[in-house]
Order: sequence, then C-alpha cells, then structure tokens
Amino acid sequence: MQRATTAVAAAATLLALDPAAAGALRVQAPGGPGAGDPYFPSAGNGGYDVLHYDVALTFRPVDGHIDATATIKARADRKLPAFNLDYRGPKIASVTVDGARARHRRSGQELTVTPASAPRRGKEFTTVVRYSGVPRSLHDGELGTYGWIRTADGALTLSEPDGTPTWLPVNDHPSDKATYEFRVTAPDRLQVVANGEPGPVTRQNGSATYVWRERLPMASYLAMVAIGRFQTRHGKAGPIPVITAVDPRFAKSAAPLHQTTVKVLNWQRKIFGPYPFMTAGGVIDDPRLDYALETQERPVYAGLVPDADFIVHELAHQWFGNSVTPRTWPDIWLNEGFATYAEWLWRERTRKNAAKRLFRSYHRQPARSAIFAPPPGRPGRKHMFGFSVYIRGAMTLHALRERVGDRAFFAILRGWAAEHRHGNADTRQFIALAERVSGKDLDRLFQVWLYTKGKPRSW
Ligand code: ARG
Ligand code: ZN
Repeated sequence: MQRATTAVAAAATLLALDPAAAGALRVQAPGGPGAGDPYFPSAGNGGYDVLHYDVALTFRPVDGHIDATATIKARADRKLPAFNLDYRGPKIASVTVDGARARHRRSGQELTVTPASAPRRGKEFTTVVRYSGVPRSLHDGELGTYGWIRTADGALTLSEPDGTPTWLPVNDHPSDKATYEFRVTAPDRLQVVANGEPGPVTRQNGSATYVWRERLPMASYLAMVAIGRFQTRHGKAGPIPVITAVDPRFAKSAAPLHQTTVKVLNWQRKIFGPYPFMTAGGVIDDPRLDYALETQERPVYAGLVPDADFIVHELAHQWFGNSVTPRTWPDIWLNEGFATYAEWLWRERTRKNAAKRLFRSYHRQPARSAIFAPPPGRPGRKHMFGFSVYIRGAMTLHALRERVGDRAFFAILRGWAAEHRHGNADTRQFIALAERVSGKDLDRLFQVWLYTKGKPRSW
C-alpha cells in the first residue's frame, strides 16, 4: 500500500534531485532493485505497490526447517517485464505470477522475477513464492542478532530495520505498507503468536495451524511470528482486545506484563488519541537479545522482563512508528524520539515536571556525550538506534513543548497521529504541522535540534 508519495519521489526530495532526475532512478532495472532509501539502497523495490502478503509456513522444531508459501498481491505502477523482491531466505522451489511459472534469479538480497507475461501498469498481480530450508539470522555490531531467530523451543522474528527478507520475500521498505495473514503450522505442543487478530486454530495429526491477521497497513520491518510455548492472557483496554504471551521461563512476569500493558494503553489513548489498531498486547520470549521491538499490535521483549517505561516505549510506537511510519529511514527519530518522550510523559504522571528535569539533566551532560552526536535528524545508518536518536530526539520534542506550551504541544502530538494515521510521513511534515498548530516559526528550533552538530545551546 502506498500513500500519495512514492518512495522514489521521497528519495528524490531527500537527495534534492529534480523530478526528471528521479525518473533516472526508476529505470535502473525493469522494476528497480531499491526504493531509493539513503541508508538501505537495496531495500525495497520500484515498480509496484504491495497490497497484501499471505504467509503459509510450517515449522519443524528438531532442525528449524521451514516450508513456506508466500502469496503477494501487488499493483504494478508501470509495465513490469521483470521486478524485484527482497529475499535472503532458504532455497526457492518455484515462483509463479498470476498462476504461470515465472523465471527467477537471486543475487545478494535481490530476487528478480521475470513473469511469463508482464503485469500491465495499474493492474493487480499475484506472485507466489515457495521455499524451504533453514532460515538464518543476521548479526550486526550495532543491531545485534535479528531477522529469523531460533529460540529454545521454537523461533521468533524481530526484523527492524531490514531482517524480514531472512524469512519472507518482501518489498522491504517502510514506504510500502501492506496487510498480512500468517498461517503457521507447528507440532501441537507449541503455540504461534503473530501480529494482529487471532483466527481459528486447526489441529491435525499432531500439528496445529494458527492464523493471525494484520488487517491494517503494516511496514515489513514490523512483521512478527513467534513459535514456542507460551502462557497467553486475553483481556481488554477499553474496547481494545489485549493479548499477551509469555515464555514459561518468564511465567512470573505474565500477569504484570498484561496488567501494565492495559494500564499504559488506557493512559496513552487519552494523550495520543484513539489507539490505531484492532488489538494490542505483548510477547516475552526467551532469546536474550537485550532489546525489544514494537512489532505491530504486539511488541516483543526479547529475553527480558520489561519495566513500565519499556512497555510505555513500545506501545507508544504503535502510534509513532507503526501507524505513522517514516517514509525513509533517516527520519527514524520520528519513531525513537517520540517513544522515548512518551516515557518522560509517563514519569510526569507521578512526578511533577519529570520531563523538564530529564531534559535539564541530559542537557548538563558534556558536549562530547553520545547523547548529542550525531544530530538525530540525520544519524547515518550506523547510529540509527544510537543515544542521540532516542535522547536528543526526545529533547527536541521537549524543546518544542517549552516553546509552544502544553496545549499546542499535545494538540501537535495528537494531530500527528491523526493526520498520518496508517500512512507515511517525514520530518518536514512534522515541522509544518507544529508551525500550523502553534502559529510559531519553528525552523530554527528544529534546525538546531535535529540537524546541527554539537550540543544545542540556543534555539
Ligand atoms: N525499535 C526498537 C526500539 O527502540 C529498536 C530495534 C533495533 N533493532 C535491532 N535489531 N537491535 O524499541
Ligand atoms: Zn523504540
């Protein structure tokens, strides 16, 4: 699914190319091997817009083998004699497009598909990829282990920013959101949890097939499947079904996770506006990765018991990141700065001026601190999840709040979530909204906080 601006057009704006030059980006390959992201040039693909992914997957715990069929419904935005998907997973058995066998070729993470007959511009077409084998995780100095991950009793996927192709062929860019259906089969002593709403469970010959549906647009990095043993709990936060699942190793934390999730959601609905999805929840699984991920509708806490701040952070991402998604990765502060600031606001419930105090104590840190560098508005790929994006990103919001006052500030937060609900947006649009709501010229404030090297001293 794509909203008004295409990824290529967004990249063109970012690179300050004129639209004619953007045309040049488009013709690199018949479809195009990338979406034009400055940090992940080969992530995403040109030429089409995915509407829906249907993922049928059978998991074998003894050796971690999967047998999978991905059915991808997309709309061509030009004639497509060939097109690419991002895929780094196990061996492909076959690819079809609209029911006819298609040729395919793999190189790095590019899977190039040549259909028997080219989908025409504006037409919907269905690609089916069948594959099987043992998927492999990614390991990165900054990001740790991610993608498809084996756990003690099953498997788990955690894919931000570019791990989904380890187990699923996708248009792996946040600008192309789509709906998803997961149908996952495993031995029936195991359970399966994923994004969205649960469907029926069917049992046959010692296996169980679980269905989960994400019916609202989701960026590919937020796709999550967890297979293993879980203690699950069902409840509600106002009208929203809340489903939590906890690995038995963390059984003592099952009730607190559930209760805090409900409590935090009820608070966030008041300050951020209506919850943007159909269900909510959380998963605690066993691999000790020392991070969590805000996977849509159901964040995952990997090998850790989250405190309330942590839960506040991941649930805030449901509004900021998952519903309103950056159009390109350099705008990652729109996710992490906002989710971190949500933690500061949570503290304010019990401590007067908590956000102001946090801002001041961070601002007293030495200029060489990693809190301040690189500027959070263009952190570079290496520092996308660094302290500056999180903390200086949150400080940016606090500086905005002090400038415009509480009433305008909270109207800006709610306006951001409402105007771009289920879409993509960029920093320029956030600044424009903040100026419109407050009636103030905020260019310098954002220039200093987001883009200027060194510790901000006046703005
Ligand atoms: N968005 C996550 C969080 O702050 C961070 C994920 C970083 N990715 C990784 N592979 N470590 O909640
Ligand atoms: Zn985060």
